[in-house]
Amino acid sequence: MTKTIARLRVRRGTAGEAVSRYQEFAVPFEPGTTVLDALISIRSQQDPSLAIRYSCINANVCKECLIAIDGEVRYACTTRLRHDAVMTLDPLPGKPVLRDLVTETRPPRERLK
Ligand code: FES
Repeated sequence: MTKTIARLRVRRGTAGEAVSRYQEFAVPFEPGTTVLDALISIRSQQDPSLAIRYSCINANVCKECLIAIDGEVRYACTTRLRHDAVMTLDPLPGKPVLRDLVTETRPPRERLK
């Protein structure tokens, strides 16, 4: 089967950084490949410093892969890659960013000071 190329614009940056930036990755994929599959592939084959969060890989169990995909909050593990447009990935809006696509999700009173 011929692989197609997905292009992902991924927000990069760490907590406290004044300016974050986007980095674009090209990922070969087959139909059915998810955004989370692509992010895992990027980490293993292109840039191990990319921070992502997930636990279950298989849809709506852990809810840790929630990110903004093209401006909508969606599960990375259930969102399929597209080949017809660049997909923009941002951390969950309204949460403090720890690094790249990983946000602080614990309630404030549970955080260590
Ligand atoms: S990885 Fe667990 S819900 Fe997406």
